[in-house]
Amino acid sequence: MIKEYIKSNKERFLEELFELLKIQSVSADSKFKNEVDKAADWLVNEFQKLELDKVEKIKTKGHPIVFAEKIINDTYPTILVYGHYDVQPADPYELWDSPPFEPTIKNNKIFARGACDDKGQMFMHLKAYEALKEVGDIQFNIKFMIEGEEECGSDSLEDFVINNREKLLADVIVISDTSIINNENPSITVGLRGLSYMEVELTGPNRDLHSGTYGGAVNNPINELCKMISSLKSDNGKVLIPGFYDNVENHNEDFRKEINKVPFDINEFKSHINIGDVFGEQGFSSVERIGTRPTLDVNGIWGGYINEGAKTVLPSKAYAKISMRLVPNQSSKEISNLFSNYLKQLCPKSCTIKVTEHHGGEPCVVNTNTSGYKAAFNAFKEIWKKEPVPTFDGGSIPIVALFKKELGLESILMGFGLDEDAIHSPNESYGLFNFYKGIETITSFYTNFSKDEK
Ligand code: BES
Ligand code: MN
Ligand code: MN
Repeated sequence: MIKEYIKSNKERFLEELFELLKIQSVSADSKFKNEVDKAADWLVNEFQKLELDKVEKIKTKGHPIVFAEKIINDTYPTILVYGHYDVQPADPYELWDSPPFEPTIKNNKIFARGACDDKGQMFMHLKAYEALKEVGDIQFNIKFMIEGEEECGSDSLEDFVINNREKLLADVIVISDTSIINNENPSITVGLRGLSYMEVELTGPNRDLHSGTYGGAVNNPINELCKMISSLKSDNGKVLIPGFYDNVENHNEDFRKEINKVPFDINEFKSHINIGDVFGEQGFSSVERIGTRPTLDVNGIWGGYINEGAKTVLPSKAYAKISMRLVPNQSSKEISNLFSNYLKQLCPKSCTIKVTEHHGGEPCVVNTNTSGYKAAFNAFKEIWKKEPVPTFDGGSIPIVALFKKELGLESILMGFGLDEDAIHSPNESYGLFNFYKGIETITSFYTNFSKDEK
């Protein structure tokens, strides 16, 4: 029944999603503030169409949170769905084959910014609920909390969660904002990395200088910053910040064997992103490097003259954005401090340094011994005809650790994306197969959970 309902409404589901994908809800860039607001309004309207109660666009210091709920019966278990309607900036636009906010279908995939992360995935929950409402039997209560600031740190959501424990009361949280191994091997995410995101400003002389009249006698902050950056990581992929690994768990051989069982084709991995070889911390597999080990990456570096032609200048300033992905027991605050102290220590007298911290977040691990996890496991088994395997994803959803801390709730990370979806990159896409199959899987999860919890 559910399957038929999805099938006979598939075109409309897509048309609706396209409406949302056309809205340029880039949360990081204030130029798009009205568009972010428009996306929130659009969601409010969708929740009203679903006849949910308490549909609300909640104002915050930043972008609005959209909330809606349907309490059918106090004795039923309550599912809280979290997702985000904001997206990453679409730059660089010229690398897109079709405009990022004009969704198009090609090779059975939807191409648009946010197609997978997270508009497409979040929207599946609305359609799953709709399907059950129309042709199913709903024996659960549901709450939706969809935010507009995930891609820039979820600042307002943190306050909202802390101040609205009652409103958010639930038995489980479910989030579709991660990926599966591939369409032959479904998986459930059981770990996400944390994040420390830093910015460094290095100043040499108080103004840009003639690189002939001064060069050789004054330190160049760009040269110096490069040197400092190269002191952050060794040739075999170890982070060199003192204390960085102090709290990192050493997993035993059994655990390592288990997590390395996930299907991973290194040649495919290399060829998809066109690299000659992988790189990372010595002694660990690629799967471990992504899922269970911390790391450090420069995200951007700039300074000096970069326009057309040559300008012989010894620049006054050099900048870099550097982020670290963290694993359990590392604390984002502590790591940010270690980073800051180490860089300050590396900075010679010939320069001055300023280190600032952007948003961060704690890592998370999901307890698999819960009725929520079992409901998700069985949903995949039923709909995909294959048992899902637990995987550790390298990305971050910092709010998951906060849900655990503030609400005492486990999150089920039931995502349906693929690595090839190119989230955050040009030509982001989301497979139609994953979209429809995902809706079906979610309906099964809701139903399983309502049965198990009773
Ligand atoms: N949905 C992603 C996180 C993700 C993607 C987890 C794929 C696992 C697999 C999320 O929207 C995201 O991009 N998070 C950011 C962190 C945030 C604080 C900006 C990230 O991981 O960089
Ligand atoms: Mn996301
Ligand atoms: Mn994202």
